[in-house]
Amino acid sequence: MAAQTLRAFLVIFHLPLVGGLAVDTILGDRVQFPETEQCSERGATLQHTLTGGIGQTVARLEDVWKPAAGYKDRMSPNETVVLNRSNINDQGLYRLSCGSEEKRIHLNVITSSEKSVPEGQAAAFIFHYFTAGELGMYRVKRNTQLVFELDLSSGSTSQGSGFENRTSVAPHWRTDGDLTLTLQGVKPEDRGDYFLYVLKDRKRGHLQAVRMRVSPALNTPEERNPEQIPCTPQPPCKEKTALICVSVAAVLLIAGAFFCGQKMARICGSKVSGGAAAGGAPTELEMQPYTDTPFPVVNGHA
Ligand SMILES: *[C@@H]1O[C@H](CO)[C@@H](O)[C@H](O)[C@H]1NC(C)=O
Ligand SMILES: *[C@@H]1O[C@H](CO)[C@@H](O)[C@H](O)[C@H]1NC(C)=O
Ligand SMILES: *[C@@H]1O[C@H](CO)[C@@H](O)[C@H](O)[C@H]1NC(C)=O
Repeated sequence: MAAQTLRAFLVIFHLPLVGGLAVDTILGDRVQFPETEQCSERGATLQHTLTGGIGQTVARLEDVWKPAAGYKDRMSPNETVVLNRSNINDQGLYRLSCGSEEKRIHLNVITSSEKSVPEGQAAAFIFHYFTAGELGMYRVKRNTQLVFELDLSSGSTSQGSGFENRTSVAPHWRTDGDLTLTLQGVKPEDRGDYFLYVLKDRKRGHLQAVRMRVSPALNTPEERNPEQIPCTPQPPCKEKTALICVSVAAVLLIAGAFFCGQKMARICGSKVSGGAAAGGAPTELEMQPYTDTPFPVVNGHA
């Protein structure tokens, strides 16, 4: 039940820090404090510890968790503390005081870059690290799932399930520190948040995040016909002549549509309905909110 509701959140838990749980979120995503759901002590509070050790109350448990001043625009009363639109100032240590118990939660707000990769193409996740001395474990995860791992000491690699034989780094990584990961043959189910980091002394260093979307496969060259311009005429319109232009455009459109219907159904049709008609994956693919991905919340390895 709880797991079900948690799926919608882009939150990742990893190995507990010294006396606490760590939660990752990407900047701008909403963040949930799952531990608050388990607390049922009236008067319980969730406090954010600011620089200097000052505690700022985020929410208080009455019948449900209610936002404190300063959080009302981002949090609705709920059984769990959920902050809509995380910002960089949200990161840091949180203390959940539930009755006599206190729990510590460390929130990492991670900035991410975005990329859109056409289905079937290769994706490159750029990553550089000092491999001439410091060693550790280079790891790439998709959400919580392992994609690729490289032991920087031994050079041995492993690939996550579903990513077998599709991931690689350039062979010269040891001399130039270029650990850019190439993922071949991107599939729709590869979309998600990729986290790249080096694990050393049980700490993640150089953490980088990339939110990847998968767009429909590119058209094949034969289907890309440069002579299909008449299908969508767009004459340049100035304000004074706008009316005339609109009329001309309408006439051209109708004529074009008629012409398309009569003569060039295949070519024009493919232009109008985009990737799907052109043999690619449905365009909805790109539109699907990424949060649709079932997102198991696990206490994974950091
Ligand atoms: C937070 O997001 C939820 C879900 O989108 C929405 O229902 C709620 O109204 C939002 N609360 C605030 C205070 O913005
Ligand atoms: C309340 O919390 C649940 C998860 O426990 C979440 O799915 C829902 O969007 C939250 N509602 C609001 C208004 O924030
Ligand atoms: C990966 O490649 C190896 C060796 O070519 C092959 O034995 C194995 O079946 C491949 N695995 C997958 C999942 O394609």
